[in-house]
Amino acid sequence: MSSSSSSPSSSSHSISIRELRLEDYDEVKNFLSKHFFATEPLMSTPGENTAVPEFEDEFHLSLIRQGLSLVAIDENHGNRIVGVALAQSQVPNNLDEQCLEAEQRPAKCLVDKIHKFLSNLEKRANVFSSFGVERALYLYMLGVDSTVRRQGVGTRLVSSLIDLGRSKEFPVIYVTCTNQHSAKLTTALNFKCVDSQTYADYKDEQGKQVLQPPAPHTKASVMAQQL
Ligand SMILES: CC(C)(COP(=O)(O)OP(=O)(O)OC[C@H]1O[C@@H](n2cnc3c(N)ncnc32)[C@H](O)[C@@H]1OP(=O)(O)O)[C@@H](O)C(=O)NCCC(=O)NCCS
Repeated sequence: MSSSSSSPSSSSHSISIRELRLEDYDEVKNFLSKHFFATEPLMSTPGENTAVPEFEDEFHLSLIRQGLSLVAIDENHGNRIVGVALAQSQVPNNLDEQCLEAEQRPAKCLVDKIHKFLSNLEKRANVFSSFGVERALYLYMLGVDSTVRRQGVGTRLVSSLIDLGRSKEFPVIYVTCTNQHSAKLTTALNFKCVDSQTYADYKDEQGKQVLQPPAPHTKASVMAQQL
């Protein structure tokens, strides 16, 4: 294989963070498919349809329009995107709305099942009543290019989002960590666990465990921080 066709590795020094813009979306879509949906541990649940439903695109675009999402760019490799943080402004009603939406949508694929699980957990955790606030910055999706992981890119994206949240006067930021890696990352940034649910306890009507990520991932945790 020639060097030009291999995956470029990067130094974290050449990586910068900026706002995610609508014109980035084609690249972001490819990025998410390769570095988020293909590697996020819940998506490894065996025997499931891992197709990503079309409504995800519409939803991602609506988030980007809010101007609260970020990308990490590798300046040494043609400004390619190496990290994405999709975030949204939420108010208390959003918790009920997203639960209702997830309940009403027939669970045709794994992403539908994950949404149902997460929206119920987030409703139960209710960061709005936990913190006594009417508005929160919600980190919906965080992904880093597999070739530059463990170099602090995810941490930098979340730190920058915290700064952005403060500058926009959000009282709270939160994220539901579906795996141990993101839970460690956010804990190191002073997020605290508001509520969590183990996957072993989440079963369908036949008693089968719905979400089965590989070890060491055993639970999802709603992690939040006052800003
Ligand atoms: C989770 C993810 C965003 C982390 O990005 P990253 O840039 O590698 O994270 P960082 O380098 O900032 O890591 C910060 C800390 O998180 C923990 N961590 C991250 N990845 C880890 C791994 N593979 N194994 C163990 N700990 C890990 C470590 O404590 C790490 O600190 P350390 O490297 O000093 O030990 C990335 O692995 C990813 O995109 N995963 C697939 C999508 C996903 O699961 N997203 C989160 C859904 S909530």
